[in-house]
Amino acid sequence: MKCMVTGVSRGIGGALATELVRRGHTVWGLSRTVPVGAQEGQFRHVVCDVAEGESRDDAAEQMDAAGFVPDAVFLNAAIEYEESHASLEWHPMQAVWRTNVEGALYWVSHWMDGAPRRPVQFIAMSSLFAQWPDPDCPAYAASKAALSMAMRALRLRYSHDPVAFKEVCLGPVHTSINPRFAGGGAAPRGVATPQEVARFLAKTVLPSHRFRYYYPWTVGAVARFGAWMPDWWFERVTRPLRR
Ligand SMILES: NC(=O)c1ccc[n+]([C@@H]2O[C@H](COP(=O)([O-])OP(=O)(O)OC[C@H]3O[C@@H](n4cnc5c(N)ncnc54)[C@H](OP(=O)(O)O)[C@@H]3O)[C@@H](O)[C@H]2O)c1
Repeated sequence: MKCMVTGVSRGIGGALATELVRRGHTVWGLSRTVPVGAQEGQFRHVVCDVAEGESRDDAAEQMDAAGFVPDAVFLNAAIEYEESHASLEWHPMQAVWRTNVEGALYWVSHWMDGAPRRPVQFIAMSSLFAQWPDPDCPAYAASKAALSMAMRALRLRYSHDPVAFKEVCLGPVHTSINPRFAGGGAAPRGVATPQEVARFLAKTVLPSHRFRYYYPWTVGAVARFGAWMPDWWFERVTRPLRR
């Protein structure tokens, strides 16, 4: 299968690219920094800032010129940041929105709107923050909720087409996007590794036909049965896993 993955320089996207290639898939990966092993074997890397229009257009042109049309598109690239509650700066907020929302939906439009052949599936990385707010980074939770709603809308819009829109809701993963794990070290108990998530994506999500997936299963239980949970409670319970 031909796969496109955004955000492949580290974290879940990096582990996913490695796992997909290991399973015999061809991967085109996008990120601003070049990962180790780029351009080796079935892995092709394109430098791309998914938050910037010109950079996205350049990357799309490179893929078009090579005749590459992915079967599966993983909308994975995202950023989060931390700032003191004494400020509420606009530029980081805007960067989160551009990366996490525009940087995903651009690729849906590119491959659905006039491409020679459409992908078979789009897979967006979501979070429990699509359901509950994050007071330390308001734009992050809002961006995940927006992407989630867009995927639901696309699923409805293309319900008679063979293309599938999928969403994967993740709990805490040991990557640098989580301020608590930015320094590295080993994943504490209850926190998934990016390799575990990558195996789940390649083995379970890619070949099956549901719309929504949860990893680990406990996240599914919280999302389904915890809807009554007040925002402040969710924040208090999850804070030790994040900060
Ligand atoms: N880790 C968690 O706890 C967790 C939980 C729930 C959901 N998720 C979701 O999982 C996905 C992957 O996150 P992660 O944990 O693997 O984060 P990560 O380790 O910080 O990796 C983020 C990846 O996105 C890329 N990226 C960021 N901004 C970009 C831009 N403007 N253009 C192109 N690439 C960009 C980064 O590459 P460059 O910096 O080189 O561009 C990097 O490869 C995200 O959608 C995140 O929201 C993560």
